[in-house]
Amino acid sequence: MKAIVYTKYGSPNDLQLKEVEKPAPKDNEVLVKIYATTVTPGDAIVVKGDPFPVRFFSGLLEPKHKIPGKEMAGRVEAVGKNVTQFQPGDEVFGDLTVCGLGAFAEYVSVPENAIALKPANLTFEEAAAVPESAIVALQGLRDHGKIQAGQKVLINGTSGGVGSYAVQIAKSFGAEVTAVCSTRNLDMARSIGADHVIDYTQEDFTQNGKEYDLILAANGYHPISDYRRALSPDGTYVATGGSMAQTFEAMLQGPIISMRGSKKMGNMLVKPNKNDLLFIKNLIEAGKVVPVIDRSYPLGDIPEAFRYLQEGHAQGKIVITVHQAEPDNSPYLPIAIPAVSERLLDETRR
Ligand SMILES: NC(=O)c1ccc[n+]([C@@H]2O[C@H](COP(=O)([O-])OP(=O)(O)OC[C@H]3O[C@@H](n4cnc5c(N)ncnc54)[C@H](OP(=O)(O)O)[C@@H]3O)[C@@H](O)[C@H]2O)c1
Repeated sequence: MKAIVYTKYGSPNDLQLKEVEKPAPKDNEVLVKIYATTVTPGDAIVVKGDPFPVRFFSGLLEPKHKIPGKEMAGRVEAVGKNVTQFQPGDEVFGDLTVCGLGAFAEYVSVPENAIALKPANLTFEEAAAVPESAIVALQGLRDHGKIQAGQKVLINGTSGGVGSYAVQIAKSFGAEVTAVCSTRNLDMARSIGADHVIDYTQEDFTQNGKEYDLILAANGYHPISDYRRALSPDGTYVATGGSMAQTFEAMLQGPIISMRGSKKMGNMLVKPNKNDLLFIKNLIEAGKVVPVIDRSYPLGDIPEAFRYLQEGHAQGKIVITVHQAEPDNSPYLPIAIPAVSERLLDETRR
């Protein structure tokens, strides 16, 4: 099979497509023919081995897992003899962080608990765009942010892979959502359900005197003291991403601020798991969450996909098409952002 293989840390631009042995499923494993995967900021970190602490997980001197890639969607081709939840032909999706990566390939063999049946209303490309980003948003809002209906929630970095899910998931919990993004993404933010939008090129939400019960920082940077000022007296701030400074301030200063007052501040590391994957699948099948996809590349163009990702301005997710869906499956139509709003409007009308 074809796969992106790397044996030493380096630039994602140098990744190459190679011919490698197709895996065979062990007794507890499912062999999946991958139709689509994604490139994410986390994949770039793993490929570069930078920042250094990531190597405690990915291999100190050289990569532990030779085929990178986390998010994927595909079809079960074969199952090991102890597999009970899947059978050949099932359409599945998942985050392979929990089982040694390997999504930048035509096939992968994974334990059955790492994957779930893909949402029935999504194409493979749409489904691949879900597993990690949506779960980061869910865990940030629900588990760390303790989101409640009626709360005023602000998402900084609305237009990226994580932020676009965060807006929709916060709405599904009944929050009043303010989305922060640049001018060109204001309409997209409204189309995925934001009640209010703030253009960060025109206005600094930390300086306008407004307060929020929950702030999720998916991208960008503000000093933690500015986020603190923008919180209501019992408000919570969760940094899921953004600049290194944002991450480290939340990690180091957040717990101290939380101990000294009623505002809670900190960051989080996603914990991929099947229950949350199924939770998101339900939201998607209920029409409450729709993946936003910027563009797609073929497997061999992964370096080009990383170059685009690292410009830092993707609108939603960047998808890699590994196999084209068969004619009896729904043909791949890249979701342009206007299509997202149309689909959401359709759901609302129903
Ligand atoms: N905590 C975890 O476990 C975990 C897991 C996964 C990812 N992450 C982190 O989460 C972060 C976001 O990931 P992602 O997939 O959403 O990234 P992404 O899709 O690459 O983010 C791109 C988006 O960020 C927006 N953006 C750039 N600068 C901004 C700013 N100053 N203010 C507001 N928005 C800005 C861009 O919008 P404009 O073009 O409008 O600027 C663009 O739409 C990354 O730092 C990633 O490493 C953390």
